[in-house]
Amino acid sequence: MKSIPIGRSSRDEIPRLLRVCGLSVKYGADGQALEAALRQLDLEISAGEVVGILGESGCGKSTLALSILGLLPADARVDGSILFRNEELLGMSEAQLRRIRGAKISLINQEPGLALSPVMRVGEQIAEVIGAHSGLKRKARKQEAEAMLRAVNLTNAGRICAAYPHQLSGGELHRVAIGQALACRPDLVIADEPTRSLDVIVQAEILGVLRNLKQKFGTALIFITHDPALLVGFADRVVVMYAGRAVEQGPSSRMFGRPLHPYTKGLLNLVARVPRRDGSAPAGLLPVIPGGPPYLEALTSGCAFEPRCSRKTEICQSEDPEELMPEAGHRVSCFHHGS
Ligand SMILES: Nc1ncnc2c1ncn2[C@@H]1O[C@H](COP(=O)(O)OP(=O)(O)OP(=O)(O)O)[C@@H](O)[C@H]1O
Ligand SMILES: [Mg+2]
Repeated sequence: MKSIPIGRSSRDEIPRLLRVCGLSVKYGADGQALEAALRQLDLEISAGEVVGILGESGCGKSTLALSILGLLPADARVDGSILFRNEELLGMSEAQLRRIRGAKISLINQEPGLALSPVMRVGEQIAEVIGAHSGLKRKARKQEAEAMLRAVNLTNAGRICAAYPHQLSGGELHRVAIGQALACRPDLVIADEPTRSLDVIVQAEILGVLRNLKQKFGTALIFITHDPALLVGFADRVVVMYAGRAVEQGPSSRMFGRPLHPYTKGLLNLVARVPRRDGSAPAGLLPVIPGGPPYLEALTSGCAFEPRCSRKTEICQSEDPEELMPEAGHRVSCFHHGS
């Protein structure tokens, strides 16, 4: 399979909602060893698109989310560019970022309920977000808050609005937090493992809510997860991250149908074994990807996945694979992606 290395200029023509280019993030206070959490990451998302970010714990998923929202800790060193509607977010003042956060880009995090204040009624909290970014009067804000709760399938919106967070179930809290994140009709929502703490039934309901909202409001969504199964039939495109890098990205149909990177193949194998029709487990052991992710500060030259890769050859140890585009829109960083 013939592939061409990707030059930055080839991506510059199409207008995107968000364009992350060469993003590198290192953590660590001055004088300490710096840990690279993101390394030269490129990512784009168009208006209304759902992009799934897939990767193991520690690969930099939340760091990416926090970078986009300008919420990294003060000791983080950031390089690269994050353009949102052609405006550079990196280096923006806190006041400028506050105009964008919540109104244009909002976050649903791993424990969405924690984003809510325990001492304020739920309806007031949503109305407050609406008020901070719009000129709506008190009554209109309250009506809008109730409408938002109905949009996340909370039919008893009046009761929920009047409740304090501790009076709601985990599933209700998740919906409230999603409603709050969408209250100002942002262009982009970043959901960082929003269903991690939920049982599978509530998880499926919350995914259904997000799917409906995408259809209803046309919001673009970055959905972060370590579980490929959650992205099937939901994400338009998938980005697979490993050790702070995007190692493969492309349309979901191709990523799930014909993945190119050995790491993506390994991840998908983990969920490919569906139970038999009679409900019994499939024969054999669940496949695993041998080894674990590398310590990011210990990374030197070569492909970061090389120690765990069944396809590795000499070059993988000494050289960093360039990003290639073997098929339109499908990019991969691997010397042996076609084999
Ligand atoms: N505030 C911080 N200070 C120092 N190191 C950090 C900080 N936050 C994250 N890291 C490190 O950066 C790397 C990436 O962390 P990050 O939280 O982005 O991973 P993740 O993919 O979101 O993991 P998970 O799936 O467990 O949420 C990890 O090695 C982590 O230890
Ligand atoms: Mg995380």
